[in-house]
Parts: sequence; C-alpha cells; structure tokens
Amino acid sequence: MSNYPVKMDVKPDVKAFFDPATNTISYVVKDPESAACAVIDSVMDIDYAAGRITYDHADEIINYISANDLKLEWIIETHVHADHLSAAPYIQQKLGGKVGIGEKIMVVQDTFGKIFNEGTEFQRDGSQFDALFKDGDTYMVGNLQAFAMYTPGHTPACMTHVFGDAAFVGDTLFMPDGGSARADFPGGDAGTLYDSIQKVLALPDDMRLFMCHDYGPNGRDIQWETTVAEEKAHNIHVGGGRTKEEFVRMRKERDATLAMPKLIIPSLQVNMRAGEIPKDKDGRPMLKVPVNGL
Ligand SMILES: [Fe+2]
Repeated sequence: MSNYPVKMDVKPDVKAFFDPATNTISYVVKDPESAACAVIDSVMDIDYAAGRITYDHADEIINYISANDLKLEWIIETHVHADHLSAAPYIQQKLGGKVGIGEKIMVVQDTFGKIFNEGTEFQRDGSQFDALFKDGDTYMVGNLQAFAMYTPGHTPACMTHVFGDAAFVGDTLFMPDGGSARADFPGGDAGTLYDSIQKVLALPDDMRLFMCHDYGPNGRDIQWETTVAEEKAHNIHVGGGRTKEEFVRMRKERDATLAMPKLIIPSLQVNMRAGEIPKDKDGRPMLKVPVNGL
C-alpha cells in the first residue's frame, strides 16, 4: 500500500442513519478525544412527483449532534450521488462545518453542466464546495486525523475517507453479498473501479468499512458495516482474488441490465451544486429534465 497515514489504534465512534427511501446510510463520525464530529453523505428528502423537499432525515442527524453536544466540523460527500439529494447546505446552515468533496468534481460538473445545458452562472470549478480533496489529503476533526483516498470508477470524483480504523467507502464497495456499485454513469469505468477497490482492500484487514448503500440482498436485514478481511474473502464481485478481466466483464454485463436510479435527474443537478437547488431566472428553485439527454 502507498503511504497513506493509517492509524488503526484510533477508533472513532460511528453513528449510522439509514434512509429507507433511498437505501442510503449517512454517518456521524466522532473524534474519540473531543466533541468534534463529521457528517458523511447526508440525505435531503424529496417527493419527486410533487417537487417537494423536506428534511426529516437531516433533522434526525442534526438532533443527534445537538443532543450529544457535538461540534460539527466537516460535511463530507464521498461523491456526486445519483440516487439521493445531499442535505449538506441545510446541515451547514444549522450547525456550521465545511463541505468537502473530491477535486475531480470539476470533471463531473463539466459533464453534467453540458447534459443539463447549464449557463455560465454554473461554475465548473468546484467553488460551490468549501474544500476539494486530492488523493492523500489530510484534515482534522478535532484531534482526529482523516485522510482522503482517491477511488474513482463509479464516478470520476469518488473518494474514500478514512478516520482511524474506520473507512467510508462511498459507492466503491457494497457489503460482501452486495458486491460493487455500477460503473456505467458518464465518466464511470469498470476497470478503474476495480483498481480503486484494490486500494481499499490494501488497507489493514481489520479496518472497519462503512457502506453508503445497502439493499438487503436475498431478503436479509439492512447492514452497512464490514471489514477489509471480510470483503477480501467474501465479496461476490471482487472477493477471493477475482481478476480485473473477470470483474470488468461481470460489471459491464450487469450494468447493461440496470435501470436509471429514480432520482438521478434531480440528484445530479442538486449534488453538483454542493446540495443547492438550482434557481430559474427569477430566482425560484427549479429543476430541469433533459429529454433523451442522459
Ligand atoms: Fe453513488
């Protein structure tokens, strides 16, 4: 493994918040030595048919942070999600903290800026975020050092964030019986995803891994936590030393059968703006649907 600053003796508290509407798991990670915490991959509720936004899931996280007297320092997006909307601005407005994402967000903004025919007022330089991470960048949550690991493939901007012995893999991996995320969105690549998964699996065997999604395959209850050792041994897509060629063939065949996520159109427009809803020329919050554009 490269020289990422892994510290397995640091064991942050991790609290998970499952969103049944999108099968997303959001997290609060807390520094063991202070009240400082970070939020990973929050969710804003949307009734897309009605065009209605609410904040029940985000309020649950905010209430947890407030009730435990925690201090929110970071609001992290592992990537531009295509299946749920981020609540980062709402949480930031209530509790403060900096919103961060991978620096390759610029690639995602360029791609989807064209698809959604955004005007020049939509900046494609990542400036909507407070911090843009490069591979190996470190940051502090109180006394807890975190680092970002560049793990593209599902999207070009995906990062895994590691705090002590806890890694938040985004959509790089699913639980062992769920395999891996699709790699067929614009800018996605199955071979790149395989290489990124190998980076995650090169972390120490007892590193705790926290998923961004779980769909309870084969009727099992929802789960979100596993380890590097478990994924290496049992992951149905990459475990047991599956080769890159086998993975890419499997991933491409499988991706060809998948429907678009229900919320991809609102999700991309909002998440590429760090969770802000776009406005029309009169300043009203408004979303577009590019017909046959995706
Ligand atoms: Fe995703």
